[in-house]
Amino acid sequence: MRKPVIAGNWKMYKLHDEAVKTALELRSLVANANHCEVVIAPVFTALKTVCDRLEGSNVRVSAQDCATETEQGAHTGEVSAEMLNDAGCSHIIIGHSERRQFYGETDRSVNLKTRACLKSGLTAIVCVGEMLPDRESGNAEKVVKEQLEGGLDGLTVSDMERIIIAYEPVWAIGTGKTATPGQAQEMHGFIRSFIAEKHGKETADQTRILYGGSVKPENIGELMDQTDIDGALVGGASLSAESFSKIVNYNLG
Ligand code: PGA
Repeated sequence: MRKPVIAGNWKMYKLHDEAVKTALELRSLVANANHCEVVIAPVFTALKTVCDRLEGSNVRVSAQDCATETEQGAHTGEVSAEMLNDAGCSHIIIGHSERRQFYGETDRSVNLKTRACLKSGLTAIVCVGEMLPDRESGNAEKVVKEQLEGGLDGLTVSDMERIIIAYEPVWAIGTGKTATPGQAQEMHGFIRSFIAEKHGKETADQTRILYGGSVKPENIGELMDQTDIDGALVGGASLSAESFSKIVNYNLG
């Protein structure tokens, strides 16, 4: 059985104190949620405090990016996976579409970051997803396959134990347009068969594949009903502890 993961990506929102406040509110609202893993991804400057304040809780903390380099060195502005581990993080989001679109992230850098993340003992949440023209031209699967091939290049079966895939169709992010549960399921099924081809059925059956793109308390239930959807990567609706806790507690209602 795959344990679902509900992850909140706070993007570039919330100053330090507000991030800590939201994290503490969430801590109590999801204290009884044992059916899934709960992860939040605050900005870098809030990570250490949020990690400290969530110690002993069932909420894990993720960074939103990391350096491709693994050794300390002259890399101004970069933060290594080892440093994120040191701050208390357990996960790193890698290759989010905003980084791919606006900050020059490529499949190659996603691959290096994923390897750096695994080397530091953290779990990588590797994001893939097509743009609207790709979908409209019937190329969605081709694009996602290329991202998976490039991003996960060279990983072993045991590396895959610490890989979570997030499928986020770019046209559904922050737009209010969710992929229909059927569209999402179709791509999740495709991703799982890709993993099975590369790493065998057992690995594919164990890999969590999250859906992202306008997930809300109102639509999480029907998404989670799909066979190959193992959780969600939530942006906007994760910023409030109340709405995010409703998504985490999708099983209650
Ligand atoms: P959204 O963002 O939930 O606001 O659409 C999802 C994401 O970017 O991870």
